[in-house]
Formats: sequence, structure tokens, C-alpha cells
Amino acid sequence: MPYELPKPGTVPVIAPSILSADFSQLATELRRVVRAGCFWLHLDVMDNHFVPNLTFGPPLVKALRPVSRRLYFDAHLMVDNPLSMIDDFADAGVQNLTLHEEACRGGLAEALRAVKSARMKAGVSIRPKTPVSAIEPVLGLVDLVLVMTVEPGFGGQALIPSTLNKVRTLKRLRDQKKHHYLIQVDGGINEQTIELAVAAGSDVMVAGSAVFKGGKVDANVRRLKTAMKAQPAR
Ligand code: DX5
Ligand code: ZN
Repeated sequence: MPYELPKPGTVPVIAPSILSADFSQLATELRRVVRAGCFWLHLDVMDNHFVPNLTFGPPLVKALRPVSRRLYFDAHLMVDNPLSMIDDFADAGVQNLTLHEEACRGGLAEALRAVKSARMKAGVSIRPKTPVSAIEPVLGLVDLVLVMTVEPGFGGQALIPSTLNKVRTLKRLRDQKKHHYLIQVDGGINEQTIELAVAAGSDVMVAGSAVFKGGKVDANVRRLKTAMKAQPAR
């Protein structure tokens, strides 16, 4: 059965980021994610230009695609010139492609339309220092807004609390303007911070180190879900 996307404002989901997985056994790690009841997989693509780190690209994503058809592949492109890679990610089996506003200056709406033309959901992301106003013109176009809660580039950093104000703003704008995007947070999500993110209004919590630490995906996810549920229903 294909994964069904949550409706904005309903049950929040945990999206494991494979950046913190054991790269020597990625297929096994993906199966652990599915066994732990997570169906949203976050793929951090870095080019050593937009961010000072280098990860993987479409060939690796394509190789992982057959491991589980149920996993929703959500690629977060931290690359310069993302426009040139859109078709390759569609071909690799990505279902949501998120582009950074800062990497598309001047051509953001056009790039997001290209993502949709390639039959993927389109996400837009902002770094901690970029205000929501920078993406306001495209909020009616996108399926997902990714608020970076750390500087993009590396896992294992501490969440910057002030970034959650942008989650609150995006939730308010969504209600006011009747937009349909999901709000995603990424960076420093753990048992302590996940409830703050949920309370602020995020729908999708990306978590890398908190999910994969010690190779105990199942137990880690269970603890995160418990911490998330400590939050009163919105
Ligand atoms: C950082 C990445 C994140 C990262 C999060 O640039 O976009 O997805 O994997 O890692 P943790 O959860 O360890 O902060
Ligand atoms: Zn990410």
C-alpha cells in the first residue's frame, strides 16, 4: 500500500534522516525504519558548495528505491543550482523534492514549478537566518515548507529555539490564506525538543541522530513518539 500523506495540522510524523544512518548498511537501516513504523524517509543531498559537506545524489537514491516501495522519499537539496538536478531525482523515485530559497534566488517559483512538472511534490526550505517573508510569494505553490532549525550541513547540532517562531508564523499564514502545505522542521530534533516543535505547529519532524543512535531505530522511534504524544492535541 502506498504511503498516505498526513493532512496539514493532523497527527505529526517522524521522518528519519539517513544522514545519521550507518552508510555501510543503508538497505538494512531502511528496513529498520519501516519496522519501526516510519514511512517518511528524509534524504539529505549536499554538494560541498551550498553547505560545507558532501553526501550523495540520484544514483544512490535510485539504488535504495527498491528496498521499500512503501517509504515516502523526501529529498532535501542543499545544493547550488538545484534546477539542473530535478529530472534526475524524479527518475530516482523521489516523491517530494525540497529546494532552498537561498539556492534559487530570483528563480524560486520557476524552480518549484519545474519540480511539479516532474510529478513530484514541491517543498521550499529556509536557513535559520532567512525570514518567512522571503518565501511568502510561493506559499500558495508549495506542498511543504521546511524550516531549518539548525544551520544546514551536519547532523547532531542543537536546535535554535528562535527558528520555531517561523513555524508559528507559517501555521498562522496557512490558516489565514487557506494554503495546504505541510510544515517540516529539521535539525536538533530529539526527545527534549520534539514537543516544542509539535507545540509550535510542525507536521513533520526530521530526526537523524535521535533515530539512528546506537543502531536501535525501533526503541529510539518509540521514545520520540512518546515524547511527541506528551503534547496536547492541537
Ligand atoms: C542537516 C540536515 C538534517 C540532519 C538532521 O543539514 O538537513 O536532516 O540530518 O540531523 P539531526 O537530527 O542529527 O540534527
Ligand atoms: Zn534535511
